[in-house]
Amino acid sequence: MPPAPRSGPSQQGIKEPSVPAAPWPHTPTIAWKPTTAWSFEFGQTTHEGIVFSNGHLWHTLRTFTVGSLKKLGIGSRSIAERIQEEAAALIQELSLIQGASFDPLSHIRNAVANVICSVVFGERYAYDDPDFRILLNLLNDNFQILSSQWGQMYNIFPSFLDWIPGPHHRIFSNFNKLQAFISKEIKKHEENRQPEEPQNFIDCFLDQMDKAKQDPRSHFYMETLVMTTHNLFFGGTETTSTTIHYGLLILLKYPNVTEAFDPPSPSIFPEKIQEEIDTVVGRDRLPCLQDRDNLPYTNAVIHEIQRFISVLPMGLPHILTQDTHFRGHFLLKGTTILPLLISAHRDPTQFKDPENFNPNNFLDDKGAFQNNDAFMPFALGKRICLGAGLARMEIFLFLTTILQRFTLCTVKRPEEIDLSPKSTGLGNVSPPYELLLKIR
Ligand code: HEM
Repeated sequence: MPPAPRSGPSQQGIKEPSVPAAPWPHTPTIAWKPTTAWSFEFGQTTHEGIVFSNGHLWHTLRTFTVGSLKKLGIGSRSIAERIQEEAAALIQELSLIQGASFDPLSHIRNAVANVICSVVFGERYAYDDPDFRILLNLLNDNFQILSSQWGQMYNIFPSFLDWIPGPHHRIFSNFNKLQAFISKEIKKHEENRQPEEPQNFIDCFLDQMDKAKQDPRSHFYMETLVMTTHNLFFGGTETTSTTIHYGLLILLKYPNVTEAFDPPSPSIFPEKIQEEIDTVVGRDRLPCLQDRDNLPYTNAVIHEIQRFISVLPMGLPHILTQDTHFRGHFLLKGTTILPLLISAHRDPTQFKDPENFNPNNFLDDKGAFQNNDAFMPFALGKRICLGAGLARMEIFLFLTTILQRFTLCTVKRPEEIDLSPKSTGLGNVSPPYELLLKIR
């Protein structure tokens, strides 16, 4: 792991990243992924997907996946409409519980998972579907274990921890169950699809497998399909739903400004966002993507949520593909790099108020939205998150639709709310909490 970022000249032609706060060297030198204990078990041998593969396999799968997702509407208006439909379904479900306090995580996760499932499997699942709930719990259990000390220790001392009882053993049994679900879905698609008329990602991949049948070096085979589907399902669900779940808790913590800041800064939060939504969108239609530019304050709060929680604080591990000088340090080819995204997010040279939750970090003096190059929850470079555009749409549409419809309340006083993550490791896991919704 490189030392904490320090300023210093770049050397030997290895360029500094264009972002001053970037906590790692120029991206082409770190584009490869190392073998970590859990990545090895998950997919470094035969079951390769995108997240842990390298070289030609990674390039082929990534290019194909990005192209297929585009064909299926990701990045266009049609996926935004799909998210709006799901947001409306979520509101309906939440309306049934209004008046009673509950933890909204499983509803949010179901809504977010339905978006990626409709693209990957061509299906969405009811909020009370018991089998789907079990599946989502498996995804979440793995996110939690990988974000705990057990997950981190397993990565460092796998052979030793193999002999020690603990929750880390569940990672693989959970993964096997998820894999069985995905394989069953693929089988259904094999039986029912119309070749060359793909309706979802699995159909696209199966068409590609047909085309590459005669090629012994093809990267399109059943294991890569299962693993790539798992990458999209896991990547598309846990990070996005954690961000929305954590975001609502932050809004509960700071209901108005005087309690949050000393000296007070412009009023943050639900009321101000709701004022903006009422003025720009009104209450007669759902928020849509085109509203984003006209909601600068809301947009700033959403960016601030992502910056403040840094849901993947260390990004994903990479390895150096060549010897590198970085900020006065010599790093050998093959060195593992953990890009501390959170260090960019907390950099006082980049943000006005890095330690606090403060939307002013993304607003200029006139209250207009102001982006910041040090904002990098999706990382940077060649291996930047391939679902970044989709995730940004989801976070915006789900949060604005919830706030348009409900006033957020909680049984706790704001000062009693603890924003510390439930656990930290691969991810910052949002803590459980009780939410009370009142229809506005
Ligand atoms: C708030 C939501 C999300 C955050 C913060 C996030 C963050 C990240 C980060 C930090 C990486 C590592 C990039 C690197 O290796 O340097 C990544 C990779 C990835 N993400 Fe996301 N992600 C989010 C949502 C999604 C969604 C919705 C999808 C699915 C469509 C997705 C699919 C992936 C995949 C497949 C990769 C591996 C890319 C590669 O290695 O080429 N992510 N994500």
